[in-house]
Amino acid sequence: ASAPIIVAIDGGAASGKSSTARALAARFGLLHVDTGSFYRQVCAKLMAQRIAPDQTEPIEAGLAAVTFSTQVVGNTAQLLIDGHAAGDDIRSEQVNTHVSHYAALPAVRAALLAYQRSQPEVARKHGFRGVVMEGRDIGSVIFPNADFRIFLHADQAARAARRAAEGRVDAVAERDRLDTSRKAAPLLCPPGAVDIDSTHLTLEEVVEKLSALIAQKLPPLSSC
Ligand code: CDP
Ligand code: CDP
Ligand code: CDP
Repeated sequence: ASAPIIVAIDGGAASGKSSTARALAARFGLLHVDTGSFYRQVCAKLMAQRIAPDQTEPIEAGLAAVTFSTQVVGNTAQLLIDGHAAGDDIRSEQVNTHVSHYAALPAVRAALLAYQRSQPEVARKHGFRGVVMEGRDIGSVIFPNADFRIFLHADQAARAARRAAEGRVDAVAERDRLDTSRKAAPLLCPPGAVDIDSTHLTLEEVVEKLSALIAQKLPPLSSC
């Protein structure tokens, strides 16, 4: 069989990555991999252990001792840490506030690197045609040679309004500031990526644009 297709989607908080990735996964038969949820899960675990982001040694020791595995549920890949799936707490205000501080640490990023790169093989084994993987550094660091690299932009105000409409408390601007300014794998639109400004587009319009692009290489599941 041919190599799994890799669709990489990056962008700031509430730029539409998860909604877009879910729609593309369903349309093209891909495994949806939300790497933001992985960083949230690691953050929640370290916070539960009362390990602060400046405690480098406990963080390194803690992460070296855990086992990462994957549970495929429907068409999404869930990270299991020592066999445990994420709890609802990964979307809490607490995690929203602290996740970027942990995600800036090279030790945390290194711990998740090989795991993320193993996902196309997980997808293949489960009968998917590839992955649609979303995050901040998928097209720049994790899969710089991905079949498709997409960067979603949207105005700060539009993104804050989207989160508010979902009823979530989230300091979108502050997380973007931290994610963009860090040294390790900063949030950026990598050279050569397809750059989409979704400020004035509906989710459906974004999905249609990207589907047209992907369909040039991979026929949608519904077509014959
Ligand atoms: O859903 P939202 O875009 O608000 O955030 P997320 O994708 O769940 O990511 C949460 C946080 O994890 C981000 O603000 C980043 O600090 C970090 N992250 C990262 O550093 N690299 C990734 N590939 C994905 C997320
Ligand atoms: O994953 P990320 O944080 O980048 O965004 P999301 O969780 O997909 O949330 C984006 C929210 O904005 C969802 O409620 C979408 O329905 C909405 N939205 C969008 O994603 N794209 C648009 N062009 C317009 C609205
Ligand atoms: O080592 P393994 O065979 O598990 O992985 P790989 O074949 O190196 O990577 C699987 C896919 O990820 C291939 O399509 C590579 O081109 C891509 N890849 C990438 O885009 N950037 C990397 N730094 C590593 C792998």
